[in-house]
Amino acid sequence: MRVHTDNELAPQPALRSFLFVAGSSRPGGNTEALARLAAAELPPGIPRRWLCLRDLDLPPFRDIGHRGDPVGEPAGVERMLLEATLAATDLVLVTPLYWYSMSWPVKLYLDHWATWERVPGVAFKERMRGKTLWAVSVMADEDLRVADPLLKVLEMSAGYLGARFAGALLGTGSWPGDVLHDAGAVARARQYFAQGHW
Ligand SMILES: Cc1cc2nc3c(=O)[nH]c(=O)nc-3n(C[C@H](O)[C@H](O)[C@H](O)COP(=O)(O)O)c2cc1C
Repeated sequence: MRVHTDNELAPQPALRSFLFVAGSSRPGGNTEALARLAAAELPPGIPRRWLCLRDLDLPPFRDIGHRGDPVGEPAGVERMLLEATLAATDLVLVTPLYWYSMSWPVKLYLDHWATWERVPGVAFKERMRGKTLWAVSVMADEDLRVADPLLKVLEMSAGYLGARFAGALLGTGSWPGDVLHDAGAVARARQYFAQGHW
């Protein structure tokens, strides 16, 4: 009979892995600063990876699904993003609030999901099921309710994929670095991932 050690039976933090997808269109932005505060509170041993969409040059999205064209294997940066997305159990969208919704780089990343759903052999939708979707967003407005449309979009998009939407960490800031003076946001950042049931 195989005897399990205590170590083997304990919850394995390595079973969770976080992908942070940073989608501000400027370097040194508030949203990434707030997300990094939250990430610092993740239990040690949880793998985490950061991808900054600004650096990636993801190609424009074209909806080719209704012309009958076969959807080819994604290549280059698109393939790397697809693989990183599938490998993570927890996806953190790091998006400034743009026009009450997500920033264009994050929207572009989500639009690409629609193509990935149709890549033969990938089973994208099935593999997204059961993941947890988190979001961090910073906006100029002090009234965080202006992010309600974003929250609705994320909740519905997660629901479409059968993923769990964990709610968002929100803060206020305009100039880069402002959000670090938003005491409420900083306090919420320290707690945000605590709901992750490690
Ligand atoms: C194109 C654009 C649209 C914006 N839309 C909103 C908005 O709808 N509501 C809001 O409160 N702030 C809005 N802002 C302000 C940004 O959310 C704010 O400057 C934020 O700190 C940017 O985050 P970042 O520093 O991570 O890039 C907008 C900024 C830009 C550039």
